[in-house]
Parts: sequence; C-alpha cells; structure tokens
Amino acid sequence: RFFQACLTKTDYGIKAQEYLTGRGITPEIIERFSIGVALPNYNALLSALGKRGCSAGLLVQAGLAVNYDRGPMDKFRGRVMIPIQDPRGHVVGFGGRILEQNSQQMAKYMNTGETEWFNKRTLLFGMNVALKEIKKRRQAVIVEGYMDAISLHAAGIDWAVASMGTAFAQEQAKLLARAADEVVFSYDSDAAGQRATVRAVSIAKEAGLKVRVLIVPDGKDPDEFVRKHGKDAYLRLIETAVSGIEFQMQYVISQNNVSNLAGKVEAVSNILPFLLECKNEIEVAQHIKTLAQRLTIDEGLIMSEYRKLSRKNDRGEAVSKWQIQPNVLSTEDLAEQLLLYVILKNTDLALVYRDKIDSVGFMSKFRGEIYEGLLKQLDAGSKSAADKLFTELSNEAATELAQIMTKDLAEENGEKLVDDCLRQMRRGALERSYEEHRLRADEYERLGDDRFLQELAESQKIKDEIKKLY
Ligand code: UTP
Ligand code: MN
Repeated sequence: RFFQACLTKTDYGIKAQEYLTGRGITPEIIERFSIGVALPNYNALLSALGKRGCSAGLLVQAGLAVNYDRGPMDKFRGRVMIPIQDPRGHVVGFGGRILEQNSQQMAKYMNTGETEWFNKRTLLFGMNVALKEIKKRRQAVIVEGYMDAISLHAAGIDWAVASMGTAFAQEQAKLLARAADEVVFSYDSDAAGQRATVRAVSIAKEAGLKVRVLIVPDGKDPDEFVRKHGKDAYLRLIETAVSGIEFQMQYVISQNNVSNLAGKVEAVSNILPFLLECKNEIEVAQHIKTLAQRLTIDEGLIMSEYRKLSRKNDRGEAVSKWQIQPNVLSTEDLAEQLLLYVILKNTDLALVYRDKIDSVGFMSKFRGEIYEGLLKQLDAGSKSAADKLFTELSNEAATELAQIMTKDLAEENGEKLVDDCLRQMRRGALERSYEEHRLRADEYERLGDDRFLQELAESQKIKDEIKKLY
C-alpha cells in the first residue's frame, strides 16, 4: 500500500505513471495488479514503515531492506513495484522494474530473494488475478516476464501468468495442473527463451498437462506483440500454437546440421528422450513417421532406436541431457567452445591449425558459423577479429560467441589446448560416424542386403580408432 501511495501521491509517482501509460498500462490494470513505485531515496520505505512500528530487522527479513556497513537501506529504489501474490492474494514478494536505466550496471529487474514466505518455484506471477479465468477455460498462457503477463491482461488475455524468469519448475506445473488441463507457453523468441521452453514443456507434461507452444513472430516478446497487433492476433497465435513435442522436435532439428547423416543421427538421439515422455504409443508412432520424412531417414530405424531406449527407460537408464540440467554441455561441446576461445584470443593459432580444424569440423552449427566468420575476417586481413564478428553472425551464433568470450580461461599453452580440443572433437566425430555405420548396417541387415557386412566391418574399424584416442 505504501508503494501504491507513492505512485498516486508523489511527483516521482507521476513519472512512474507516465512510464506505465507509455507501456499501455491503464489505471484499471495498475489497480488490478496493485502496482506501485519505490522512490529513489535510500530509506523511504524504512522510515515510513518505521513510523508505523515496523522494525528494520523485519523489513530485511522480508527482503525489502538490506543491511549495509552504514546500516539498513531500502532494497528497491527508483523502481516500478510489482507485487507477487500467492493464489489467494497475499503479497509475498516483489519484482521491481527500473524506471530509468542509466547504465547497464543496474539490473533491469530486481526481485525479492528467497525468504520465509517467498519461493519463486512455487509461485506464478498473476495467478491470483488469472485463476478464475484459467479455471473457466481450463487453459493457461505462460510467459516469462511480469510485463508480458500484465500487458496480456491489459489486452484482454486474462488467463496469462508469468513464471518470472526462465526456469519453469515442477511446483509451478503442479499448481497449474490443479486449475487447467492445458498450458500454452509463450516465452521470448530469443535463444534463452526457446531453450527454456524445451525444458518447460517436459516439466509441464510430467505434471499431466497438455502442452502447446506459441512462437511470437519477429523476435518480439508477448508484450510487444500484443500491443502492436492486438488481442485477436494473439488469440490466433494461441489457436495455431504447435504441440509441445512438435516444438521440441523442431527445436532440436534447428540446432543440428541435418543436411548430413551424422547431424541427423544426433538430432534423432536428442529427440528420442522427448518421445519417451509421450504417454500414447500411437502418437509416438505418428511423430516418428513425421520425423523420418523430415530428416529423410528410414522410419523403421528411428522406431528401433526408440524401442531400445524405451527398454533402457524401463530399466531406469535412459536420461535425456535435458532432464539432467537445462544447460549441460557434452565434453565435445566444451572442447569446441574452448578451441574457439583459444583461437579467437590468439588468431595466429587459427591460421596455423586451420587445416587440422577443417578436417575435424564443428558439431555445432553455430560454432561452425563462428569459426567460418573468424576465418573470413582473418583472410580479409583483420586482426581484432572477435569484436567485428558479432555483427556478422546470426543471433544464435552471437549468443554462443558471447558465452564463449565470457569464459575466463588460462591460455598459457595455446598449442597444447588446441591439440587437446581437436582430439576430443575428433573422438566425438568418430563416435558419430560409428553410429552412422552401425545404423546403416542395421538397415541393410533388415533388408537382407549383404552390404551390411561391409558396414559392420567399417564400424569395427572406427571403434578401434576411437580406442586409440583414449
Ligand atoms: P526480460 O528481459 O525479457 O524482460 O526478462 P521483459 O519482461 O521483456 O521486461 P520489459 O518489457 O523490458 O520491462 C523476463 C523476466 O526475467 C526476469 C524478470 O522476471 C523478467 O520479467 N528478469 C529479467 C530478472 O529477474 N532480472 C533482470 O535483470 C531481467
Ligand atoms: Mn519486454
């Protein structure tokens, strides 16, 4: 209530109101979400609540004040305050959006940290407001950000909630499963949002929900889209949202280079664990058929791989890399990243090792793109290639590059590192090639074609080579 009073009764509040109006948020919506503002002073909240008998210690405990060497200070300053309520409407935490972002140093959003009352995993922003409509429709739209949810409500999509950041948790899925039969994920279309969606789909399915994924076109977030194109356009996006598994398959395919057999094999092996999560075998068969057509590989092959994994799963052995952690990288991924890091820092090495690197190649399409981009710069005579690279790359590759460049690695012995990485990558490539020949052998054998012996021999040879590398 104090933050709300600051919004309506102070000069600073007028500025905040202008900001909100500029974002299409009406007074009615401000009221519905109890939005307020935290003044820029260092102790506005502490002193106002102090006068009402609320101790600094309690405010610290609630995550609203912080202890500094000079004493307690308001945690949220100069921010639009968005209260996070439990489904029954009790305020348990806050998200604060900065009003004027003067530097990149200041986080755009600040949130209440974990407190006795506030646990992000068990809460969905907007649930208290949206619950009635969610129950009525048996459907919920889930977005990443506070402002996305608020903006959708403002547009009349009032069954939207936000998972607050990207990680969708099991507890949140269970909460939704009590009110809805179906969820529609509408995360940001950037790389992080899409990656988070892949994982969120699995979590929601596990809670027994039907899942669909909506992709907002042109890289916009739901807030920008609905403000520009309106409610009906967004409703059409909901109608045409693809099923969760369809999205997961599309995503994996987009992350692999499926123009060659090795890329196809990698894609299939990444998709299979998702298929395993489907309850219905007829549905699985249908997806396998589509997948086979899309990748132009034999349907029977995918099916037999699926059965194998399914048996492993029954024994409790099958674990998708997505189930372990959203961001696990294989040793091969790490080797590719490290290699790029070293040759970006020391571009001479890129030229010295060029032929060797070319002969092994990158498993990741985007890291391949970074490498090609770097060579292009170097061939054009540019020395500080890494900086210029960013503007030339696709979004995904640029994100990958940023991730690589923020690694802080020792690089005393560049040559040794490059050699190690190449060995790892070569091993990965051989393993994929082994898989490829083995799959072909299976197929020939199934068709009664004698060439299966040749393929088997070839795969055996590769196996021996792999052994040598260990
Ligand atoms: P986004 O960066 O996508 O912001 O973060 P947004 O929702 O589009 O916000 P506007 O439109 O610029 O106001 C999505 C969500 O990630 C969390 C917040 O929950 C936010 O709503 N986040 C983001 C943080 O917690 N801290 C940050 O610094 C940024
Ligand atoms: Mn936004």
